[in-house]
Amino acid sequence: MDKNFYITTPIYYPSAKPHMGHAYSSIIADFFARFKRICGYNVFFLTGTDEHGQKILKASENANLEPLAFCDLISKNFQNLSKTLNLTNDDFIRTTEKRHFDSVRALWKILEQNDEIYLSKYSGWYSVSDEAFYSDDEVQTKDEKNVAISSGSNVEWVEEESYFFRLSKWQNKLLDFYNKNPNFILPEARRNEVLSFVKGGLKDLSISRKSLKWGIKVPSNENHTIYVWLDALTNYLSALNYPDTKNKLYKNFWPASLHLIGKDILRFHAVFWPAFLLAAKIDPPKKIYGHGWILSGDEKMSKSKGNILDPIDIIKEYGLDPLRYYLIKEVSFGNDGNISRDQLERCINSDLANNYGNLCQRVISFLDKNLNLEIPNNANFENEDHNILNKFDENYYNLINAIDNQNINYYINFVINQLFAANKYFNDQEPWNKKNDIKRLNTILYVSLELIRKISILLYPVIPESALKVLSIFNVKETELTYNSILNNNFLNPKTKIKKIEILFKKIEKK
Ligand code: MSP
Repeated sequence: MDKNFYITTPIYYPSAKPHMGHAYSSIIADFFARFKRICGYNVFFLTGTDEHGQKILKASENANLEPLAFCDLISKNFQNLSKTLNLTNDDFIRTTEKRHFDSVRALWKILEQNDEIYLSKYSGWYSVSDEAFYSDDEVQTKDEKNVAISSGSNVEWVEEESYFFRLSKWQNKLLDFYNKNPNFILPEARRNEVLSFVKGGLKDLSISRKSLKWGIKVPSNENHTIYVWLDALTNYLSALNYPDTKNKLYKNFWPASLHLIGKDILRFHAVFWPAFLLAAKIDPPKKIYGHGWILSGDEKMSKSKGNILDPIDIIKEYGLDPLRYYLIKEVSFGNDGNISRDQLERCINSDLANNYGNLCQRVISFLDKNLNLEIPNNANFENEDHNILNKFDENYYNLINAIDNQNINYYINFVINQLFAANKYFNDQEPWNKKNDIKRLNTILYVSLELIRKISILLYPVIPESALKVLSIFNVKETELTYNSILNNNFLNPKTKIKKIEILFKKIEKK
């Protein structure tokens, strides 16, 4: 079995500071990366910044800075955000780096050699905000402005010499590829969207701009700058040292296992990217997953709409793990999700403080008061003990499959149900009434501790810092964490002492 896993986030435009949509993509990718690591996979997790194109050039002009100085500054914010979000990315790529230039120019040359590129003239609409070309039927006039129907962004008319990629010739080959790889685009609704777009016919794609100077030059014609999307998409290869296809990173990790993206950039990833790759005789990635948008009051959260919940502010106020938990649990993955402070606070109180926090506190303080924090003997498990412990065993493959199918909701609901079940078990077993039956008392506590341990392993990809805090009381270290150990009902060593635990989550008092 292939034990390598390559996961990517989109590379973010450093046109402004990072917002919740960016944090969302990154947190979800980190969740998958962490889960795969504890399953024993060799994981490569990539994120970065997309620094060329008109949009960035404009933003740098507005800031009165040279484009590279501007990108240095804002890209730093994204690098810092990766740390603030506790991401385990293995690399952070910037498209202004030399390694990336080399890859993009190498890919261009191969496309040229393969006769996939020709010089002609582009006349049509262009949206700087989307960095996308639009045909007449994709544009409408609204409030006397020409806007792209799909995104609502302003478009301008462009007429200039341009290199074209022979996208039209890839229509049937792409359809064939989608057919043979039914999981290439997920979720299903996005796949259908792409299929109908491609079936509708593909036009050759303009892939260079003459009027734009900020970007990577076409190798054979320095008057042209490579289209920012061809440049940006190549980041997934350049981080693996493409065109050196013999090096270990490339050999281990290409084709990528999963490009995680937002639904607005589906066409670039699910149509243009595999077409470029097939044309260059490179295997396309295995899967593109287009997640939904984070909405605020039913609108996409974005700078231009001024409805941003700043991830940094939220983390300062509530902490990182509550935000991670909230985004992973409350936004039904694949769909749009409305987020608000109220819901976040409810989630902290009911799930984190009352459910997980409470389970850990009450079991461990009982152990402290009655058994001096010593892990008791596990004696003989009875039926109700087996029943609850074996839930993990029974769901072992379901959880793996859920993650492999990006069914985050299944995963998180399983964890929540186990938390409820563990709290209920502790209540129903009433260890406080078993002080005369020490054997049973010991078993109940042993089982409760095992449940805390197993649940914490499953929570590790979601709320790593808190889960590790809990696991550290058992002396389980991050590097030793394994998913397989949820199968073990006798992992903990009787007679060893555990450490006390601090309060994990503070309840939010309603003002
Ligand atoms: N630079 C391109 C991606 C190039 S990848 C080769 C880009 N950058 S972006 O900064 O505009 O967006 C990056 C990602 O953030 C996209 O996947 C986008 O869908 C996501 N989000 C931006 N706003 C969002 C929300 N409000 N909600 C969820 N994600 C959204 O596109």
